[in-house]
Amino acid sequence: MKRRVLILGSHGRLAGSLLECWSGMDHVIGLARPALDVADGASLRQQLRDFEFDVLVNGTGLTNVDRCESARDEAWRVNVLAPEIMAECASQRGARLIHFSTDYVFDGLKREPYSEADVPSPQGWYGTTKLEGEKRVLQCDPRHIVARVSWVFGPAKPSFVDTLIDRALLEDRVEAIADKFSCPTLATDAAAWIKCFFDFSISGGLYHLCNSGSCSWREYGVKALELAANAGLKLRTTEVEPIRLADMKQFIAPRPVFSMLSTHKFAAATGITPRHWHEALRDYIHKKHAPISSST
Ligand SMILES: NC(=O)c1ccc[n+]([C@@H]2O[C@H](COP(=O)([O-])OP(=O)(O)OC[C@H]3O[C@@H](n4cnc5c(N)ncnc54)[C@H](OP(=O)(O)O)[C@@H]3O)[C@@H](O)[C@H]2O)c1
Repeated sequence: MKRRVLILGSHGRLAGSLLECWSGMDHVIGLARPALDVADGASLRQQLRDFEFDVLVNGTGLTNVDRCESARDEAWRVNVLAPEIMAECASQRGARLIHFSTDYVFDGLKREPYSEADVPSPQGWYGTTKLEGEKRVLQCDPRHIVARVSWVFGPAKPSFVDTLIDRALLEDRVEAIADKFSCPTLATDAAAWIKCFFDFSISGGLYHLCNSGSCSWREYGVKALELAANAGLKLRTTEVEPIRLADMKQFIAPRPVFSMLSTHKFAAATGITPRHWHEALRDYIHKKHAPISSST
């Protein structure tokens, strides 16, 4: 199905991968700063008038959860007002907005995967603004999509796994939080899942999207180092020392302790069950980090 797709925030971790994965398709355009400032509502409206699209993908966001606590007004404009404007502009031309939200809309007190029916209760300003953004998008038009993702990693921009592997190449000791749990999401896997929503017969609404399985940051790190060592990287350590969330004194915003997302609704709507994060991480590390000699 041919869709004209406009991706906003295309230098971001998620949107950068979407642009790369979809670039072989007809009419896929990415827009990023400095050409686009979504915090300027009037300019955003004007820019959206200048493009033809059937699907608008919002990869922008003020995603630094600690910065959101102090940059409250900016977070509101980027995470709430901008998606609301995008939703209106998309609706006016009969297009679908695909907007991203986060596991941080939950308080993390549950010990089973959160479904779309669970009541959100964000703990910090980032989650608060993301939740309000979700609501405004779907109130504007229930045919739009809000996809909540968690722990995104991928080739477009380094994340936790890349930093940990880089550290283990140089340092004898690395550590990661052992008492915070969710599920990693490979951005290039997400590109394939999200493409399903180009089919407008798939109902709009809220969907949870992540790879399957769950882990702590530490388990995620241990697996990453194991896979990196297997791929031939000369690591100085494959041990990841446990630290507690409470020991992260530099964290300003509160974070949910458990925020695993259930993808049952997405699977029922599309027939796609996301693969386990182990498999996704293995593919990613082999492509991104393995020395050339070991991958040939
Ligand atoms: N990464 C995760 O683990 C994760 C988890 C849950 C949910 N999400 C959600 O997924 C979406 C994408 O996140 P991501 O991980 O790809 O984040 P990211 O790498 O921080 O990308 C966000 C992009 O938004 C851009 N942006 C911020 N303010 C802007 C503005 N005023 N005008 C134009 N562009 C602006 C940033 O541009 P600059 O590069 O110029 O700052 C950046 O390229 C967000 O909605 C986020 O809430 C991500």
